[in-house]
Amino acid sequence: MKQLHEAVKYLKKNYKDQPEVGIVLGSGLGNFTEEIEIEKEINYSDIPNFPLSTVEGHKGKLIFGNLSGKKVVCMGGRFHYYEGYSSEEVVFPIRVLGLLGIKTLLLSNAAGGVNPSFKVGDLMIINDHIGIDIRNPLIGKNIEELGPRFPDMSEPYKKELIEKAKNVADNLQIDVREGVYFCVTGPTYETPAEYKMIHIMGGDAVGMSTVQECIVANHMGIPVFAMSVITDLGLREDHTKITHEEVLHFAKAAEPKLAAIFKELVAAL
Ligand code: HPA
Repeated sequence: MKQLHEAVKYLKKNYKDQPEVGIVLGSGLGNFTEEIEIEKEINYSDIPNFPLSTVEGHKGKLIFGNLSGKKVVCMGGRFHYYEGYSSEEVVFPIRVLGLLGIKTLLLSNAAGGVNPSFKVGDLMIINDHIGIDIRNPLIGKNIEELGPRFPDMSEPYKKELIEKAKNVADNLQIDVREGVYFCVTGPTYETPAEYKMIHIMGGDAVGMSTVQECIVANHMGIPVFAMSVITDLGLREDHTKITHEEVLHFAKAAEPKLAAIFKELVAAL
């Protein structure tokens, strides 16, 4: 808690307004920051106790500014379990945003599709998740100041936000899918048998982030909305390889659609 307070204190000293919405940008989705009227950028490396981003395609900056008439704080680059961070480190920034007072958290990610009807470039609103392959970030002594020991997870992604986003997408004439995000640790992409298992277990998309962040936001009582860009297909017949470059390429290609939805969703909050 002391480490969290130190980070929050530093940020409050460097940016006076209170952000209403927190936004996390996934792999290849960093250009979204261009939509923000930036007031202050703070490097992760300058924030006390903040982990450092190591993955290509991630910016490593906290960006404060205005989007659609609201004060937002955006993480250009997140932290992944596969980078070697503990789950506490992965979620540290989310807790900081929570303590800064955000009222809504928007998450984005690149994911592999395992729903046979999905295509590369599709957007999927996450309506639930399966996180059995990752370490729950709340394991350990509960931080009572943040939330209860046994948090409810019956609505991990706020229904009201999902409905709003569907309306927004409708108005923008952007097709969106909806489904369950299955979280894996990575960093390997899945084997054919694993993609099949994920599909059988109820996943529609699979990725290496988001779930731990969603859990701590729920712990703190912050409503979450999350969206995946489908960058590859797990259940393909051929044996084409999946590369990080390809994931970044297709995430970037679909980014304008995701950006338009996030922007209008923030306006509608
Ligand atoms: N699996 C896991 N994570 C991913 C994938 C995938 O196929 N695509 C993008 N992130």
